[in-house]
Amino acid sequence: MERASFGSKVGIILATAGSAVGLGNVWRFPYMAGDNGGAAFIIIYIACALLLGLPCMISELIIGRHSQANTAGAYRKLAGGGIWSGVGYMGVLTGFLITGYYAVVSGWCLQYIYASAANHLNGTPELIKTYFTDFETNPWKPASWAVSFVLLTHFIVVRGVQKGIEKASKLMMPALFVILLVVVVASCMLPGAEKGISFLFNPDFSKVTGSTLLGALGQSFYSLSIGMGCLCTYASYFGRDTDLGKSAVQITIIDTCVAIMAGLMIFPAAFSVGISPDSGPSLVFITLPNVFNHAFSAVPWAGQVVSVMFYMLLALAALTTLISLHEVGTAFFQEEFHKSRNSAAWIVTLSCSAIGVLCSLSLTGYDGLQVFGTPLFDLLDFFTGQILLPVGGFLTCIFLGWFVPKNISREQFTNWGTIHTGLYGIYIFLVRFVCPVCIALVFLNQFGVI
Ligand code: PHE
Repeated sequence: MERASFGSKVGIILATAGSAVGLGNVWRFPYMAGDNGGAAFIIIYIACALLLGLPCMISELIIGRHSQANTAGAYRKLAGGGIWSGVGYMGVLTGFLITGYYAVVSGWCLQYIYASAANHLNGTPELIKTYFTDFETNPWKPASWAVSFVLLTHFIVVRGVQKGIEKASKLMMPALFVILLVVVVASCMLPGAEKGISFLFNPDFSKVTGSTLLGALGQSFYSLSIGMGCLCTYASYFGRDTDLGKSAVQITIIDTCVAIMAGLMIFPAAFSVGISPDSGPSLVFITLPNVFNHAFSAVPWAGQVVSVMFYMLLALAALTTLISLHEVGTAFFQEEFHKSRNSAAWIVTLSCSAIGVLCSLSLTGYDGLQVFGTPLFDLLDFFTGQILLPVGGFLTCIFLGWFVPKNISREQFTNWGTIHTGLYGIYIFLVRFVCPVCIALVFLNQFGVI
């Protein structure tokens, strides 16, 4: 049977950018920028994305398109069945774990669309805080939202690469951009918004420390979906005429612009009402509803509309990301275990729903789901984002830079010699030396070794 593929170049870019643009852009990036000096962090982030993220992304795309297989199959084919095959299997496992906890936060967004529409978030800061903690620690509500979100993803993925993933991305990504633009304009037009804008664009280098640099690197990898096979799986559906380098640049630009625009949604509104942008999940689910209430207190319905749009934006971003994560597992079961697409997708849906429910329940304080006193949810977030992804990215660079024959990477980079570019030499240098060293530094720093 002929292998599935994307039908158009726009489809390729929108689907892959859809994987990259996610919760990482809309809540993680703004609070990290907020904590690390605003513009200074953004400058460092862009440098990391271009110098390190981009070459890693191209490497994953090369592995996927060359092998024409799911992540595990792709690494195995290129490794000739050797030890490097393990990187692919690790990617698939990471995909399952991320999907589980990511679905939980995605589910929260659905609840918040409803809560904003039903005007449940219009109250004092205490009320908003209680609303979130009551919801988060409710045993069944967030868990059911998480399962619903995985099911939603399932019904898109199961329709196939072109009719499911590509079609959904072509509808959802433009919708996401429009909503983003409307909320940015609304936020930037608030009185006093210029303080937020200048915070984002006037660098304060005094706040930059070693950990800022390392934080920016970690965030750029997370945000670009590097290190676990989403890019590899999608690239296995790319056509022979897709310019991998150019596509990677376009995806990186889209992802970075969305992150900066997310900052432009949050900071101007927050500064205009004098609320300090908090960090972590509380930024989006506790601080922000407050900001909307205050900022639009003169026209409450406008605040409600902006709030609904904001959570819809988050849900859309999360959905396109979850689709790519789900596809990693679906392609794996379909090809490695010779299952129909339908059964493969159900295996992923059921196992990821189970992980999602456990993660969600772990936040209710249930003892059996705490590991060393940390809820399973936080553990998976940390373990995947801070450990498995950087390790996956690191190993991919070493594998592609040092073990995969250069004629394969050159052939993929230049589309079998049809693209005349002098950039291959720079790319392979970055992949062989610069990326592994820098990722290793982040990693060692996280464990306090340096
Ligand atoms: N890039 C996604 C985001 O920004 C997160 C992600 C990481 C997705 C790794 C897939 C793989 O939300």
